[in-house]
Amino acid sequence: MPEHTLHFNQLPPLSLYIHIPWCIKKCPYCDFNSHQATAELPEQEYVAALIKDLNNDLDFVQGRTLDSIFFGGGTPSLFKPASMASILQAAEQQIGFSENIEITLEANPGTFEQQKFSAFRNTGINRLSIGIQSFDNQQLQRLGRVHNSDEAHRAISMARQAGFDNFNLDLMHGLPEQHLEQAIADLQTAIDFAPTHLSWYQLTIEANTEFHKHPPLLPGDESRWEIFQRGQALLADKGYQQYEVSAYSQPGKASRHNLNYWQFGDYLGIGAGAHGKITQLDGSQGTPQLLRSRKTRAPKDYLNKEKPRRHIETIANEDIAGEFMMNALRLNQGFTKTDFKQYSGLPASHIEKGISVARAQGLLTIVDQHIQPTAKGRLFLDDLAALFI
Ligand SMILES: C[S@@+](CC[C@H](N)C(=O)[O-])C[C@H]1O[C@@H](n2cnc3c(N)ncnc32)[C@H](O)[C@@H]1O
Ligand code: SF4
Repeated sequence: MPEHTLHFNQLPPLSLYIHIPWCIKKCPYCDFNSHQATAELPEQEYVAALIKDLNNDLDFVQGRTLDSIFFGGGTPSLFKPASMASILQAAEQQIGFSENIEITLEANPGTFEQQKFSAFRNTGINRLSIGIQSFDNQQLQRLGRVHNSDEAHRAISMARQAGFDNFNLDLMHGLPEQHLEQAIADLQTAIDFAPTHLSWYQLTIEANTEFHKHPPLLPGDESRWEIFQRGQALLADKGYQQYEVSAYSQPGKASRHNLNYWQFGDYLGIGAGAHGKITQLDGSQGTPQLLRSRKTRAPKDYLNKEKPRRHIETIANEDIAGEFMMNALRLNQGFTKTDFKQYSGLPASHIEKGISVARAQGLLTIVDQHIQPTAKGRLFLDDLAALFI
């Protein structure tokens, strides 16, 4: 078999990402495809477009069922539970759900959203990801959030009452003028709620954001490093296992949806600006190919029925190993050669040389056949992945 012909014994698992691109207000640090909502959201129209978009992607399914679904944003919790129910019903009818499917909704902790948690749970959504960011009112204000600390507390209690025993809290650290004690207090407050999962992100200043135009005063490198070290120790002490750069969970409660991305599984992406990654067994030359799909980004163009929504490109075979690494090496557990073969379609011989070089440079290590990034490798992930291009 020539080295660049892909070969798959079976297709990777399949997930579905659904993007809802509106928020009450745009946060000054956020570069996601999210837009301040106008008085009246075109919710019904958008749900109809999502279902069309999904139907148009059915050629990517190739006999699989969905292992996970993620409603992300923007702020999907602005939508009505009935809208989520319609989308889920279409996905179940058109594709089908695997047993124990994980269905996550990103929710903001505003009062308006909290009131809908029970109804969301009744649609079959079984995991909530709540964007807390901080429990400190002054920080929440600096971050331009529309909720306060009391609402954050209440949202978490409401999530539990609504029957979400599996939920994630998003927190950020390294916030403007933040001291070590404040960052650790935020983390401790979150841990006291015993979430099954914590996403603990260091604030980054992204291009095209308000914070980029008017940079706030961030703690220095050393303070940010200290916050990170102390936070890591606290999370480990409380039984949260780090399994990815910013993801921590109770044992067995890693996000299956995000794991599938990082393991280089397949996913459909529907909604404005959503991305998908698909293994197509019968590609354009009758041989397997990996594809990336991208949907029209601006919500008003996405809603325009006259224009095509789906844009597809083939991942060049010589780029596949590098893309696999950019994902798999985010995971602490790394990957095995069998995983590499199964998800990339390439033979393991393809990465032998890169592995040797990376090991010699102290960027990779092998533990029980798992090829894992070292601490240095995690810091220099781009350089590490470049060894496989
Ligand atoms: C898709 S976003 C938004 C989810 C939800 N709309 C919210 O804000 O609560 C997911 C998470 O990414 C994190 N995030 C967004 N921008 C970030 C940045 N510039 N630096 C670090 N984390 C960021 C936030 O913790 C946020 O909750
Ligand atoms: S952080 Fe969340 S609420 Fe804020 S603009 Fe981004 S997606 Fe919207």
